[in-house]
Amino acid sequence: MTAAPNRDILELARPELRSLIPYTPGRYEPGSVRLNANESPYRAPGDATARGLNRYPPPRPQALQERLAEQYGVATKELLVTRGSSEAIDVLIRAFCAARRDAVIVCPPTFDMYRLYAGIQGADLVQVPLLRNDDPSMDFSLDTAGVIDALNDRTKLIFICSPNNPTGISMDPEDVNSICRAARGRALVVIDEAYMEFSSGPDFEALRQRHAVVRLRTLSKFVSLAGVRCGALIAAPRLIEFLANVLPPYTFPTPSIEMVLKALSSDSLGVSGERITVLRRERARLANALGAVPEITRVWPSEGNFLLVETRDANRFTESARRSGILVRMFANHTGLKNCVRITVGRPDQNDLLLAAVAAGGSDAASEVKNHA
Ligand SMILES: Cc1ncc(COP(=O)(O)O)c(C=O)c1O
Repeated sequence: MTAAPNRDILELARPELRSLIPYTPGRYEPGSVRLNANESPYRAPGDATARGLNRYPPPRPQALQERLAEQYGVATKELLVTRGSSEAIDVLIRAFCAARRDAVIVCPPTFDMYRLYAGIQGADLVQVPLLRNDDPSMDFSLDTAGVIDALNDRTKLIFICSPNNPTGISMDPEDVNSICRAARGRALVVIDEAYMEFSSGPDFEALRQRHAVVRLRTLSKFVSLAGVRCGALIAAPRLIEFLANVLPPYTFPTPSIEMVLKALSSDSLGVSGERITVLRRERARLANALGAVPEITRVWPSEGNFLLVETRDANRFTESARRSGILVRMFANHTGLKNCVRITVGRPDQNDLLLAAVAAGGSDAASEVKNHA
């Protein structure tokens, strides 16, 4: 297949969506009597929002879009607010992939929602596994040549997660750059930066400026707002405008808009920043301590708010944590992650509990081994 470096990225989108007529919302003018949207004129009891929950939210949350763009250092027209970055993944796949015709490339082990949304849309999932290496700092790197080889006329999107969930490792910017160069004009590269705030590396904004790349961010992790469901898709203005027409209007709820605007005040951001510092310190402490636990055979370095560990027996490890009232995530059934468990970094007291549970579980396991010997 020949590369088409100057091709408009929208040519890759589903043609029927490119000609979709956008929905025209009813006017909203603060201070006017609003009899144009079939809303209730009364506030619900207990409604403490500024806008009023009896009113529909804005069709697109413009104020939030402006504030998030400022937060991420991009232009307002380069950002689309989504319900979690999950919705950003969904809208990209819906907008670019026709069922039974188009394909998405993913690099497992990685975030499983790419597979899920591709499946819902009926897009093919092409898997190019991350490369393994005995050196933990090089383990799970991108198979750049493999991804480039897998690119063909059916490929519409390539998902790259950095730092990657669940491996915790950031992708080498040179590898990502090579994939972006090869994909230019042929497929859209999507870089999922959900854990960027926990990483010491730079984001992929410089790369986005050079290539037709999409970046995804989320407020679920760094400002403690997973329950609010707010994400951001950062891309070229033409793509943002197109995707905004594919998203239904009025879906971003008023309480979420108001909560996120509060969380992005400088005081709240200061608190979030301090918490990130604590979590990063705790991540290092946990990694060290877990590395000394006999039941754990490997701890991968992590740039996220979690650690991936390999255990002697993932079921035994997970169950023993559970008996102490601690839930960790088993990845044992995923290709390349035999006996692996992902542990989210908690508060210092929660991490102490985990370490105590793991130490006790270790002695259970040791006595079990002795009893069976
Ligand atoms: C890599 C990655 N991307 C995206 C998401 C989705 O985040 P949200 O929809 O909460 O923004 C997650 C959630 O854990 C994730 O790990």
